[in-house]
Amino acid sequence: MALPDWSAVKSLEVPTLAELFARDSRRVATLSADVAGIRFDWSKTHLTPDLIAAFTRIAAEMGLVAKRDALFAGEKINVTEGRAAEHTAERGEGSPDSVARAQAYHARMRALIDAIEAEAFGPVRSILHIGIGGSALGPDLLVDALGRDAGRYEVAVVSNVDGVALESALDRFDPQTTLIAIASKTFTTTETMLNAESAISWLMQGGVADPYGKLVALTAAPEKAIAFGIDETRVLPFAESVGGRYSLWSSIGFPAALALGWDAFEELLEGAAEMDRHFRLAPFEANAPVLAAFADLYYTQVRGCETRATFAYDERLRLLPSYLQQLEMESNGKRVTAEGQPVSWPTAPITWGGVGTDAQHAVFQLLHQGTRLVPLEFVGSIEPGDGLAEEHHRQLLLNMFAQGAALMAGRANDDPARAYPGDRPSATLLLDRVDPRTLGAILAFYEQRTFVNAVLLGINPFDQFGVELGKEMAKAAGAGGQDFDASTSDLIARAFG
Ligand code: F6P
Repeated sequence: MALPDWSAVKSLEVPTLAELFARDSRRVATLSADVAGIRFDWSKTHLTPDLIAAFTRIAAEMGLVAKRDALFAGEKINVTEGRAAEHTAERGEGSPDSVARAQAYHARMRALIDAIEAEAFGPVRSILHIGIGGSALGPDLLVDALGRDAGRYEVAVVSNVDGVALESALDRFDPQTTLIAIASKTFTTTETMLNAESAISWLMQGGVADPYGKLVALTAAPEKAIAFGIDETRVLPFAESVGGRYSLWSSIGFPAALALGWDAFEELLEGAAEMDRHFRLAPFEANAPVLAAFADLYYTQVRGCETRATFAYDERLRLLPSYLQQLEMESNGKRVTAEGQPVSWPTAPITWGGVGTDAQHAVFQLLHQGTRLVPLEFVGSIEPGDGLAEEHHRQLLLNMFAQGAALMAGRANDDPARAYPGDRPSATLLLDRVDPRTLGAILAFYEQRTFVNAVLLGINPFDQFGVELGKEMAKAAGAGGQDFDASTSDLIARAFG
């Protein structure tokens, strides 16, 4: 198995951003792409045609084309777990069998949604979605971004085992008109099962005669959901080969499909499929996920950047940074290759971010003048999400554009405290509007970019063994049978006596 050789990209002389713009009047055209209602602009990154060519050679050595084909063909590219990664089949881009299976599961979900809308379960006003990680972050983002004006159902997504989270959602809802979706790929996750039990108690205490009749399961382990007591007709399965953090396209997207409407859910899938086709067919030098990954790798491998930040200049996308944290860090936060050899190069940077303009008044000081280089990504929408005076949205976008320009240009000053070094990179993703299609496309873009990064890093993005040890130790702590270190034992004794 090939290992990545970064020497060619490290040896290239890369001019400053100002010089790159001065030398090439076509830079914006060369380093941007328009896909599925999204403008991608990497011209304010240090990517150059030479760098792209060098990364393209690394991509060839690492077998990117074959691995991309294997991904879409449903081959077992998740080698450490011996299974395929078939999230693209959920949006119609995969092996014919897997696409047909996904469509059948979607049809099942749609039939249940139709029944809910026809009040087969009595009047339903609220959906309590219980899940964690990939079983919560995607649906939460979709409903928060697109559901503000939908007004069909009130949706609460509860993930934390901290009872404060569940309690505050339950306080808002009426047990008589609430449906509870229990979302868990494995249907064993401690937090989700405990929250589900407490929500069932709440239904009982609220006088619901058949609380289990108000439950829907979203899972790749349907037999476990049935054993839990949920009727098979309200168990919405998805394939084991769909990873948790890639699962919002499956029945895990149920609250979004219900709250936003089935047509919106289909548009979301279609937007994602459009991005998949672009990823499959566009040449690397015009391929959005590929170019984004090349820029990522330039900053981590060559410039030593340890973090990358995404700022959503759109309140509707305020959950995007948290969603990306799981997608990128759980996928590519690895220290061995897919074959188990320790890596000697950095893998995923730390993903962080926030919402503009708020972040400008909190963390941008470090971005402009700190000692660390942080590649940024700005995400905004041309069409506003509000009905207030146009000035709000104008100010929002002008601020986003100005930040990218200021970071790049910098400003000299005789007083060092007031000088800005400049030459700080940012990419801009400008959506025509925030709608199901563009959201589907941008999320598929992030998935594919994560995949390209993984292929060039030589790692498997589809497992997550790193989360297991902490889970096991929490269980052991609960069972009381394990000897912990002195600090942990002291803390346990203080909390529980
Ligand atoms: O602990 C990490 C993880 O396994 C994630 O990968 C996953 O999205 C989350 O837990 C929830 O898992 P499940 O959907 O099986 O409840």
